[in-house]
Amino acid sequence: MIDNSIIQEIKERLDIVEVVSDFISLKKSGSNYKALSPFTSEKTPSFFVSPSKQIFKCFSTGKGGDAIEFLREVDSMTYIEAIKYLGEKYGVEINEYEIDNSVSSEKDSLLIILNKSKDFFINNLKTKEGKNIALTYFEHRVISKEMIKKFELGYSLDKWNSLYDNLKTLKYSEKLMVSAGLILEKNNKKYDRFRNRIIFPIHNISGKVIAFGARQIKDDENQPKYINSPETTLYIKSNILYGIYQSKNSIRKDDKCYLVEGYTDVISLFQIGIENVVSSSGTSLTANQIKLIGRYTKNVTILYDGDQAGINASLRGLDLILENNLNVRIVTFPENEDPDSFSKKLGKNKFLKFLSENETDLIKYKTDQLNENYKNDPIKKSELVIDIITSISKIPNSIKRSIYIKDCSDILKIDENILITEMNKLLLGSNKTLNRPQFKFKENEKNNLAVKEVDSAINFCEKECLRMLVNYGTKDFQVFGLDRKSFIEYFLNEIEDVAFENKNYIEIINIFKMELENGNVIDINYFLTQEHEDLKKDIIDLSANKYELSDKWKNKFNIHVNDEFDDLKKSTYANILRFKFRLIKKMINENLQILNSNIDYKKQQETIKIHNKLKSVEIDIAKQLGNVTSI
Ligand code: GTP
Ligand code: MN
Repeated sequence: MIDNSIIQEIKERLDIVEVVSDFISLKKSGSNYKALSPFTSEKTPSFFVSPSKQIFKCFSTGKGGDAIEFLREVDSMTYIEAIKYLGEKYGVEINEYEIDNSVSSEKDSLLIILNKSKDFFINNLKTKEGKNIALTYFEHRVISKEMIKKFELGYSLDKWNSLYDNLKTLKYSEKLMVSAGLILEKNNKKYDRFRNRIIFPIHNISGKVIAFGARQIKDDENQPKYINSPETTLYIKSNILYGIYQSKNSIRKDDKCYLVEGYTDVISLFQIGIENVVSSSGTSLTANQIKLIGRYTKNVTILYDGDQAGINASLRGLDLILENNLNVRIVTFPENEDPDSFSKKLGKNKFLKFLSENETDLIKYKTDQLNENYKNDPIKKSELVIDIITSISKIPNSIKRSIYIKDCSDILKIDENILITEMNKLLLGSNKTLNRPQFKFKENEKNNLAVKEVDSAINFCEKECLRMLVNYGTKDFQVFGLDRKSFIEYFLNEIEDVAFENKNYIEIINIFKMELENGNVIDINYFLTQEHEDLKKDIIDLSANKYELSDKWKNKFNIHVNDEFDDLKKSTYANILRFKFRLIKKMINENLQILNSNIDYKKQQETIKIHNKLKSVEIDIAKQLGNVTSI
């Protein structure tokens, strides 16, 4: 165990704002700090740090606690790891022995054995074999001493058992060696996984080694060029980026992240002084890796090889980056060059110049890549248009979407409205989010009976939604054992894409939103005491509702009034779905009116297509509604 007095001392010295800032960018907001939650991909910040209380609170996930809790959540540290990390950061000495003795969890043990192995691989560089083989290799690849140190590069000896023997003398269990992926077993014989290879330790965000990549020394087609540690509870490939520990501060400072393919690309860029760079290590980019970058910057530039494989890889990564609301640019390299080779050839200044001159945005990149061959083939061209629009439709932010659509229309010389229509089809078809479609309906006189009916239904649904917000806003979902989310957060997320019509309701929602951003969860009383004369009537109307029954009455009849409380999520969800259902009905009606008006054939066809899409969305919502309400 670590002595309580040591933990106490660390707690006294630390500042949660500093601790959190090592992982995400905080912005001052009143007396607090706020940021986009590192635990979800959100668009409006709901993550708060209070310096006075020394706690953090994430409203989108419900996570909260002190600095230690934060480290455990954000970097999967164990309690002891977190203490040790803070001890290092704040200069409180913790006896290594005490820590080794207190190993309790699997993650702790893995961390310790992996980091001991890293030391062993580094030490091998000092042996005769290491000098002859590894240091010569580094020289040949022009990797400096400084980089070897910074990235803790090492070497695994050309023997079957060198690491195994070493770990054995340090008294680690064979079981642990195997589960850490360091030692393999065949016919009851144990042997080292990494032999005669350059070792690239893979660090987690706080700088601990969680896995290894290992490169062969001599090119040998019969052997894989690189081999990696297997996944463990500590090392989940899709969650980590090579170089993130070394680069995170520069990424934040430069507000930009270069994304490369390989270990050596990262190291070479560092070596010429470009430190805001990470690698996906040859695997295709995952959403979690993008979120990881998103903690430090919203701007990503992909630097992939100029060969077709590199281009395809970057094309695949693109949409995922857009979907996560990051801005993406792409640089392609000349044939047979990668960032490693090309940066060495050009040196820092020329390389940076090359990057800035060749950085293209999404549309230009896609058109350049695909347009070249398809210029004169109308079918191919329309495929290209759909491809580009598909990418644009992934962008969650509608303003950004329109800007891209405008660019696209200029470059491809296609009418903006056609692009918008096509994109709306995709948006509605994806049934991922029911984004408010960007149809431009004519202003219709609403004389038709169906429209009126739908309108009153919409009013009713709006009111139901607001009633839930006003009455249950302060509830915490955790209380209901449903979800670790505050009700307000959940609610605001759900209605993000819904256009309310009642102006007062819009205002009420905005007030809830604003207060939440400042970390306040408000309730009815807020509106009654503050100067919201114009909203007062609505608020009172919303709070005094038919479901409000006295306890006595409830007990007497043992009735279902509790349902709404007990299953807040379900009833809110159903309410919002009902609301969306009405909105779609309204859109269908308006679209039909267009169809009935005097329009040309082409427009008719378009309108019919829209109608079919809307209908399918309607059916989809009806189905969901059926599912929810029948539970
Ligand atoms: P060098 O040849 O040392 O410059 O490496 P590189 O980084 O240029 O390699 P390459 O462009 O061929 O591959 C990019 C990344 O893909 C590497 O850094 C590795 O992470 C990964 N990779 C490449 N080859 C293999 C392989 O054979 N097996 C595995 N698992 N990964 C590989
Ligand atoms: Mn290379």
